[in-house]
Amino acid sequence: MDILERFSIYFCELDSEGRFLSGEPGFWRSLGIEAPEQPVLVAELLDEFVGREEDIRMIAQSGSGEISIPGIRRDTGFLDFRVLPAPGRSLTGAGGAVLVVMDSSEAMRAQQAILQQRNEISLLKRDLDRRNDELKALMKAVREQNHELSTTVRLKTKDLRQSRLSIIVKLARVAEFRDKETGGHIYRIGRSCVLVGRNYGFSTEDCEDLFYASLLHDVGKVGIPDAILLKPGSLSAEERAVMQTHTTIGSDILEGEEGKLMRTALEVARFHHERWDGRGYPEARAGDSIPLVARICSIVDVFDALLSRRPYKEPWTADAALELVRRESGRAFDPGIVEAFAEAAPDIIKLRLGSFDAEGVEDLPELY
Ligand SMILES: [Fe+2]
Ligand SMILES: [Fe+2]
Repeated sequence: MDILERFSIYFCELDSEGRFLSGEPGFWRSLGIEAPEQPVLVAELLDEFVGREEDIRMIAQSGSGEISIPGIRRDTGFLDFRVLPAPGRSLTGAGGAVLVVMDSSEAMRAQQAILQQRNEISLLKRDLDRRNDELKALMKAVREQNHELSTTVRLKTKDLRQSRLSIIVKLARVAEFRDKETGGHIYRIGRSCVLVGRNYGFSTEDCEDLFYASLLHDVGKVGIPDAILLKPGSLSAEERAVMQTHTTIGSDILEGEEGKLMRTALEVARFHHERWDGRGYPEARAGDSIPLVARICSIVDVFDALLSRRPYKEPWTADAALELVRRESGRAFDPGIVEAFAEAAPDIIKLRLGSFDAEGVEDLPELY
């Protein structure tokens, strides 16, 4: 430690009695006392000097130019205390004085302890900074890992959905193989449902679900005997009853599958032959109690069937088929959906003619 650091120097005023009139605040602080309001002898302030007031006064008035007061203040740790005349001033009579307060070894030790503490604090701070950096690095790693994990989950989920979609498409093809309806009927139903759903306000995600779900609307036909399913003529009442079970067979096949897509598929398969007026099958549900997706598929399915050639009928014109759909509004069909269907009809007809290229529907994968 520099020797100068061991001294503190203060300027004070003395009166003619050699008493301190005033002192810099630091001086009083170094003695560990509050600045007194009245002139005071230093000896009165310091226990060690009690009884030596006269000596001090004499020294102060002797004009020797120096007062030296040995002793140790335990609370401040200062060893020595000297009063020197300020430059050009005398200690006798009123005059300025310079006080030099010297450090004791105790004070030095205290200072050293402070320095050591400062050192320790800076070491601690450095350690803290290092730990902080480590923590930041760790958090960054966790964030990266989280990101990686969520990417993996996203990919796996996508993968799962892809395999579900692919199973749906395969199942739809199986159903279509057995059905007498050919020429991409199922695919047209899917895309037409999307057109209607979009007009009705479905989100892209809901449209996609509707597309895949509607591919399976007749999946239950795999359970209908060929003699009935492929019979060229019209069906007897018993045969029709068996034929109608394709709705419940379909929902049985799709039963127990989790997720919105598969629930939608089940709803379409089970309820696409229900009627708005409650005269449909298998449950004779009416109005809003028929799932919305099934109400959409119902119109689309009938319209496509009307436009198709059958052994027992010629294909209807688009205008005649649309006319029938409008006529059935509020009877077989939900009026709200008939409206959305009529709006989409031009595109649906173009789709049938194979010249359709609407934006949005093209986002769905080509299946055939
Ligand atoms: Fe059907
Ligand atoms: Fe169909």
